[in-house]
Amino acid sequence: MKRPIVELWGTGCYTPQRAMTNEEFSKRLDTSDQWIVERTGIRERRVAEPNESNACMAKAAAEQLLRRNGLAPSDLDTIILATCSPDRLLPSQACDLQAILGAKSAAAFDVGAACTGFLYGLSVAEGLIAAEQAKTILVVASEKLTSIMDWTDRATAVLFGDGAGATIVRRSTNGRGILASYMRSDGTLAELLYRPGGGGTHPPDEALLKDHSYYIKMAGREVFKAAVLSMADACDHALERAGLVAADIDLLIPHQANTRIIEATAKHAGLPMDKVYVNVDRFGNTSAASIPIALDEAVQCGRLVPGMKLLFVAFGAGFTWASMVVQW
Ligand code: ACO
Repeated sequence: MKRPIVELWGTGCYTPQRAMTNEEFSKRLDTSDQWIVERTGIRERRVAEPNESNACMAKAAAEQLLRRNGLAPSDLDTIILATCSPDRLLPSQACDLQAILGAKSAAAFDVGAACTGFLYGLSVAEGLIAAEQAKTILVVASEKLTSIMDWTDRATAVLFGDGAGATIVRRSTNGRGILASYMRSDGTLAELLYRPGGGGTHPPDEALLKDHSYYIKMAGREVFKAAVLSMADACDHALERAGLVAADIDLLIPHQANTRIIEATAKHAGLPMDKVYVNVDRFGNTSAASIPIALDEAVQCGRLVPGMKLLFVAFGAGFTWASMVVQW
């Protein structure tokens, strides 16, 4: 088994106070709790207040993590922030976080890989440390998806939620850390899950507000099929690269989009559901933030303890997909 170069040092997360149930959606849209639970497994999601920004949520997750590790913001030399729902398009969300966190010694940049962003961010952090360009990297994923979803579109509005999660990547000190990782993309399928307007090809104008093209559009069934196939592919590759088999894995933390996607992924990987961490029922799909939020919960409730082998897998817009095996 490969000796890890870097380890994930601690976790932190933040989710908004306000929990919104399926019942609330059924009062404003032609949908029902039964439909949403049967098709997605989601029962409620957290919704940020209007003044609760992506940066605020990232800061809260990062501060919890730094406190738990006895670190100050000035100890960070790099901030990598994964998001597809930034507070503004320029500058990066990571620079806003760097400012409000007071991380005076840190370089800061965003990773744009949608729901796969946290795993892409961890891999970039591993590379920076291997190249001796950084020592203490904050990798944070933060999403305010409720600000970019169309609240009148029942096919997407019921799926998403807000929140943030974080970890520190540093050189491995005791044989723990990332054993293998795998990243892929297929941009030819971009328009199955995207925001058509608001960028350079369709700059903001009145038409944009009327046709709702500023918001997330998704071909749900096609995305579903691609997610299942890609997450299966990613699990196989990460295990093979780590020189492990499914029986070696103690816990699978998949991207939390939909229980049917999670169950199909676990089945393909040959892992029973009692080895799979699921919290999509309480948080919905928080895109890049879903894995670090689930990771933090798994650690805090004692489901993940040192010595365990962990498999992460994610799929998202792009399309992008990735996986990682970690010795915790
Ligand atoms: N309530 C009630 N009916 C609905 C709703 C809703 N919220 N949304 C769609 N429907 C209707 C559709 O209009 C359609 O009606 P019709 O048959 O009269 O045309 C019917 O339900 C079936 O629609 P489908 O889209 O075929 O339903 P499906 O079983 O595929 O479930 C879902 C839809 C839940 C979106 C599913 O395709 C899915 O989970 N896809 C993955 C999407 C995803 O998670 N994307 C997130 C980003 S990528 C990622 O994180 C993996």
